[in-house]
Amino acid sequence: SLLTLNDISSLRREVRDARRQGKCVGLVPTMGNLHPGHLALVEAARARADVVIASIFVNPLQFGRNEDLDNYPRTLSEDRAALEAAGCDMVFTPTSQMLYPNGLDEQTTIRVPRVSEGLCGARRPGHFEGVATVVAMLFNLVQPDVACFGEKDYQQLAVIRKLVADLHLPIEIIGVPTVRADDGLALSSRNGYLNEAQRAQAPRLYQVLCQARDDLESGRSPDDVLRESLGHLAYGSLKPDYLELRRAGDLGPVTDTTRDAVLLGAVHLGSARLIDNLKVALP
Ligand code: PAJ
Repeated sequence: SLLTLNDISSLRREVRDARRQGKCVGLVPTMGNLHPGHLALVEAARARADVVIASIFVNPLQFGRNEDLDNYPRTLSEDRAALEAAGCDMVFTPTSQMLYPNGLDEQTTIRVPRVSEGLCGARRPGHFEGVATVVAMLFNLVQPDVACFGEKDYQQLAVIRKLVADLHLPIEIIGVPTVRADDGLALSSRNGYLNEAQRAQAPRLYQVLCQARDDLESGRSPDDVLRESLGHLAYGSLKPDYLELRRAGDLGPVTDTTRDAVLLGAVHLGSARLIDNLKVALP
């Protein structure tokens, strides 16, 4: 059954015991309010590790001043039940006081250049610094052999891959494909902010990405496709934020020789901001 670890010393003790038994440790960092997308990460970790540890921590360091930190859904007892049913072994639930005892302003942080810039990094100053810092801290506390992250947050996954490479961390990063609702909308805790009418319009983001991917793969000019698709994103209450085509590996600019690309989009819808992405095989 699921073991809850409320503090750093019990986490360290459990990890040490597992390690002594020669077990391979897998980590799934989350902010809770778990849905089947998160549980797919647990499943991926279970396939690769003997012990799976999830973390639930709504990380204040990665929220901007005018963002949804206070409103972010907190559903710990449901989350525990879902993790237990998914076969997760332990859940680490620290407080901000435990991870940042000196306060956010005094916290040593990690900045990951290039991949953190542009896209969501440009709209959310400091966001990826907050993500990289808490993930590096969790890596240090848990010292996992493998850690799983969703492709849904593609830029975040790229930031973490670079963090691990640049700091020579001996951790294998697994990217897990995006889990979607039947109508294509990528599952996200922030979908809960949508009312019924907004929820009905939300799949537009995925539909536009699919059409654009097909057009790009059939050889249409990226400039034309992006301009046209951005127009298609403005629909109902959707307010387009960005739509960009980048290199899949490092999110650098695509050139004539780029084959593996990714199309990333973001829209505002009511009080929510939705993101999604699709890989594109350029001809
Ligand atoms: P959170 O939004 O809770 O997401 C936790 C993990 O679940 C991330 O790796 C995210 O990419 C993945 N995920 C979310 N929705 C998914 C979906 N529909 N399909 C597949 N995977 C999905 O991302 C964070 O928390 C935080 O930034 C964190 C990494 C925990 C650092 O605080």
